[in-house]
Amino acid sequence: MRIAITSDIHFFPQWADKLQELAELLQLERPDLLVLAGDIGEPLYMFTRGLDNFSSVCEQRAAVAGNHDVWHRTFTYTSDHLWNSLLPEAASAYHYTWLEHQNLVIGDLGICGTIAWYDYGGKHPHLQLDDDFYQSIKPQISNDANYIDWPWTDIEFAQQVAEGFEARLDDLQNNPDVKNIIVVTHVPLFKGCLKPINTVEQGILNAYYANIELGQKVLKRGKVRAVFSGHVHHARQLRIARHADTSALAVYTIPSDYGSPAAIILNTSTWETEIIRVAGD
Ligand SMILES: [Fe+2]
Ligand SMILES: [Fe+2]
Repeated sequence: MRIAITSDIHFFPQWADKLQELAELLQLERPDLLVLAGDIGEPLYMFTRGLDNFSSVCEQRAAVAGNHDVWHRTFTYTSDHLWNSLLPEAASAYHYTWLEHQNLVIGDLGICGTIAWYDYGGKHPHLQLDDDFYQSIKPQISNDANYIDWPWTDIEFAQQVAEGFEARLDDLQNNPDVKNIIVVTHVPLFKGCLKPINTVEQGILNAYYANIELGQKVLKRGKVRAVFSGHVHHARQLRIARHADTSALAVYTIPSDYGSPAAIILNTSTWETEIIRVAGD
């Protein structure tokens, strides 16, 4: 089976041609499944244009939200309304499985996904700064603090989505018909996905780019063969060893950036991957 995974397309008319080009390149790859790993577009009509852009790639499609997708800066709807209703409804209208609500099983392969909110686990451990610090300085670092209006703290929201995700992952892990699982998240789950920490600023910034605790939970589910994540806008590829009787976990980030989208094609017969890129201007 061939699976195309893209992320962080941030649909915008200025780079609509580039996104169309990526959709056409992916269509030529004839994948069996396309997954969008969040940051599809905002406000909502850009999110739907992002979904529509990739509708021609293949019949079977799935998506998760990214942090930008729940921004409410036009003030016509709240982040809560987007998260709970408007985004999943749009995905359904364009025939994408909303992985935050349900798994996909294709043959003996399970696909499980989540936005996987950052829980500050990516922070530099030597900085000795607590969760309240990272929540309070967030407006100076991330527009998530300015454009997301739900009542939950980052830690609360990260826990809330992790609970649902773990339950769905266990459904696949305990399903005798499922041999291998692929996990797709918006926020990465492993420190190796992040930028190296050479400055104090990077040590702080990385707090908003990972949920490390969730990664450790994924590692314990032995059927998970590969994890694909977005959010960081750069390419990383890791192999994480597990028990001798369990295959290593392959971890990838999608190297899309604003106006220069990219995707990864995974072949589940060989577990090899290939990057498809569209160059920016
Ligand atoms: Fe992004
Ligand atoms: Fe993001």
